[in-house]
Amino acid sequence: MPRNVHFIIGASGQLGTEFALALHQAGEQVVLSDIKPPELDSLKDLPFECMDVRDADAVANRMAQHGTTHVHHLAAALSARGEKEPQWAWDLNMRGLLNVLEASADSKKIAKVFWPSSIAVFGPKNGPVAEQNGHRIPETVYGISKQAGEQWCAWFRQHRGLDVRSVRYPGLIGELSPPGGGTTDYAVEVFDHLDGPTPYSCFLSKDTVLPMMHMEDAVGAMMQIMSAPQGRILNSESYNIQGLSFDPETLFAEIQQHVPGFEAVFAPDFRQSIADGWPDELNDSAAREDWGWTAKVGIQDLVQRMIVSKRQSIPFPNEG
Ligand SMILES: NC(=O)c1ccc[n+]([C@@H]2O[C@H](COP(=O)([O-])OP(=O)(O)OC[C@H]3O[C@@H](n4cnc5c(N)ncnc54)[C@H](O)[C@@H]3O)[C@@H](O)[C@H]2O)c1
Repeated sequence: MPRNVHFIIGASGQLGTEFALALHQAGEQVVLSDIKPPELDSLKDLPFECMDVRDADAVANRMAQHGTTHVHHLAAALSARGEKEPQWAWDLNMRGLLNVLEASADSKKIAKVFWPSSIAVFGPKNGPVAEQNGHRIPETVYGISKQAGEQWCAWFRQHRGLDVRSVRYPGLIGELSPPGGGTTDYAVEVFDHLDGPTPYSCFLSKDTVLPMMHMEDAVGAMMQIMSAPQGRILNSESYNIQGLSFDPETLFAEIQQHVPGFEAVFAPDFRQSIADGWPDELNDSAAREDWGWTAKVGIQDLVQRMIVSKRQSIPFPNEG
């Protein structure tokens, strides 16, 4: 039987690096694509296509040349950088997605497409818990592009018969790759400031609760939704998935359990108003019921993994 070929666009980013490694380690055939090469040594020998996703011909041709069966489109402008460079963000997020959807729908070989949406589709009027199809009037360029993207995916599903699947990721935290300019980046960056010399300066206020997720669960969600029978994908838009929710003060207190000398100060900047418009947590009962979603990594586990990755060993509280 011919093997599946996974073409990952945005493969050198925070999520793409983890996706690519997980698929490669699972024995899948993977083709990486980005405007910059992968940094992780274990990905450097895999096929790599330097490709701008805004170039429609390049997208169609490169995916076809590799006999692509599954597309994972992860290249995007994120929330914070998107507010600084709105035209660039809109162009990359919309043109890139439409190029991928068109080329995939035209292809006779491509069986499935994965494209991530975000908690940014929810707006300030939503309230603390975002329901699956709750109030969605986003107020950032990034959120508007994700909301429109969800509707484009639904359109291609309905009118072009394309099997495109999607989840709304919360803020993602992982060991392998730095974040790419989002509003939840503090929860990754902080682990590079465990030992000072000055206190870590957090760009959100200490009580800003946001939904977050460890990369193991983010990759798990992609694997689960992509392997679910098509008849289980019942929601016409992206699925909410909840990992864990915390504020900076709670995360930093957990870090101090392992690094007693760790200190932080709070200096909210323009990202505070983006965060204020996002929900504290997501109701993900539809994903649980339809395709069996569950998250595994809690805050204690997450903090330990991040510190271990920085230190390769961890001083636990009762070990002095
Ligand atoms: N990281 C998060 O917390 C988070 C949360 C919710 C949703 N998401 C979504 O997950 C996806 C991946 O996010 P990420 O955090 O890995 O982002 P990232 O910024 O780390 O990576 C994006 C990658 O896209 C590449 N890229 C930029 N412009 C390109 C172009 N014109 N053509 C091809 N590649 C280009 C970049 O070089 C980069 O490697 C995005 O769709 C994002 O919206 C991420």
